[in-house]
Amino acid sequence: MAIIAPSLLAADFLELGKACAMLNASEAEWFHLDVMDGVFVPNISYGLPIIEQIKKTSTKEMDVHLMIVQPEKYITAFKQAGATILTVHYEACPHLHSTLQQIKAQGMKAGVALNPHTSIDVLKDIIFDIDVVCIMSVNPGFGGQKFIEHTYEKVKALKQLIVQNNAATLIEIDGGVTLDNASKLVAAGADVLVAGTTVFKAGDPIQMIASLRNC
Ligand code: DX5
Ligand code: ZN
Repeated sequence: MAIIAPSLLAADFLELGKACAMLNASEAEWFHLDVMDGVFVPNISYGLPIIEQIKKTSTKEMDVHLMIVQPEKYITAFKQAGATILTVHYEACPHLHSTLQQIKAQGMKAGVALNPHTSIDVLKDIIFDIDVVCIMSVNPGFGGQKFIEHTYEKVKALKQLIVQNNAATLIEIDGGVTLDNASKLVAAGADVLVAGTTVFKAGDPIQMIASLRNC
């Protein structure tokens, strides 16, 4: 059984309220909110005002994925907008330990995302301080991309690191998640599955969320 975190990037932005109501009524436990700055990634999505509106209606965890440079500048702002889990990219944080402590000091769970080229080995000395590791299974920036198969190996290695250290860190997978790879990801050790296209382009998104959860 996985935690499902539908990414609102794939929702119809003119009907965001309906998308939120659907997720509230579904078995999804987290809302996944993708913030892109056009610098860290080659795309611009949405930011604080939209998250603030979504927070007003959401009854679930607000899992904010920052694909931005210098995320440490915006920790308080995203807390105020409604984030309950704040994920920064390893590649964007020269002082990752300090950034994670700042996130936790604001009462949020702290996440670290790894780009496809970044080894999980870089987390060896900091795994205790991370609530969620988000393994990118596509290059960040766009929804609807093809799942990178090497991800399974990373999940297994990360799971081993977490178990060896007796840490409570959750493993989240982000990008190209479908009904075809979900069960294999969970078997490898994934706890949280992000799904944008698979959920929002499904004929019955609520049923799709249930199917992913029970994969
Ligand atoms: C990609 C984002 C993902 C994206 C996933 O940069 O971080 O969260 O929305 O979308 P799908 O599930 O369509 O790959
Ligand atoms: Zn994401």
